[in-house]
Amino acid sequence: MGVLKKYGDLLPLTEKTPNVNLEEGSTPLIYLPRISDKLGIKLYGKFEGCNPSGSFKDRGMVLAVAKALEDGKRALICASTGNTSASAAAYAAYAGIPCFVLLPAGKVALGKLAQALMYGAKVIAVKGNFDRALELAREGAEKTGCAMVNSVNPFRLIGQRSGAWEICDVLGKAPDWHAIPVGNAGNISAYWAGYNEYFKLGKIKTLPRMMGFQAEGAAPLVTNQPCPNPETVATAIRIGNPVSAHLARAAVQESSGEFNSVTDEQILSAQRLLASEGGVFAEPASCAPLAGILKLRDLGKLPEGITVTMILTGNGLKDPDTAMSQVGKPIEINDTLEDLMRVLESK
Ligand code: F0G
Repeated sequence: MGVLKKYGDLLPLTEKTPNVNLEEGSTPLIYLPRISDKLGIKLYGKFEGCNPSGSFKDRGMVLAVAKALEDGKRALICASTGNTSASAAAYAAYAGIPCFVLLPAGKVALGKLAQALMYGAKVIAVKGNFDRALELAREGAEKTGCAMVNSVNPFRLIGQRSGAWEICDVLGKAPDWHAIPVGNAGNISAYWAGYNEYFKLGKIKTLPRMMGFQAEGAAPLVTNQPCPNPETVATAIRIGNPVSAHLARAAVQESSGEFNSVTDEQILSAQRLLASEGGVFAEPASCAPLAGILKLRDLGKLPEGITVTMILTGNGLKDPDTAMSQVGKPIEINDTLEDLMRVLESK
């Protein structure tokens, strides 16, 4: 069941809102026993890579596109580090309307680029970073009347609240810590709003601490100033001037949470740990929270026994280049049993 149907009561739908549905949402909340034991906590990963376009963006995109159609809009536009563009392009294809996506040239993971092109979007590579592409997309939307589907579109963040509702529905409570990567700062804000809504409805009795993690080379919320030249291997969160910074700061402050940064090396090491000891392959940006939890553990700042949910925002398959740069090559053998046995019996 897609997000509009599953959580229709909590969403601003009207009789005129068309049904848009790629069966997004309802992603698995995976308990990770080996990593939990290592850390002395109960660690769950919400694997947003299982969404139809392979990232959490689909939760908000479905509502943004439904409302755009309701509003008579006939084309979509967005800037993106990759996932928003893949999601927008997918829903535009579903709805049968054009989609323009502005990407920072040369800085988008291969899988995401392939997706936007396959879904049939008009893909525009901007010689500049994401922050500049977003400014251009906003101006383009104003001039043309295209629906702007970045997270400045309020419906995006409302739809993304559904992630928090699902976590609470599955756990039967809120987690103690909610760990999440932060780029343009929309998702952390959406989750905080979602938890608060459930709290007000009496569905949960406590609220989590919102723990936001950024890459060291793109950490404006940690340093408290815009970062003019963001750089990180986690290209999804290569953002220097987050549009929802104010909302994210409020979420962290109100929840007694924290922003922390992690190095690219820590991110990649966490990505390998999650895959090799968790069985979950998430893209680099999605592994910033695990890197951060490990860092906080090393600093003695991870309370024992707490329940932590981390949002694994995107699928690892989206960025095969970064994955392959970290792992060895397959063992090639001749097609003989002898060769095979040599490998099977080697240590
Ligand atoms: N993780 C992934 C995989 C992302 O693609 C993004 C954002 C984030 C985390 C950060 O979420 O922006 O709400 O704080 N990607 C956007 C995009 C910017 O264009 O795909 P945020």
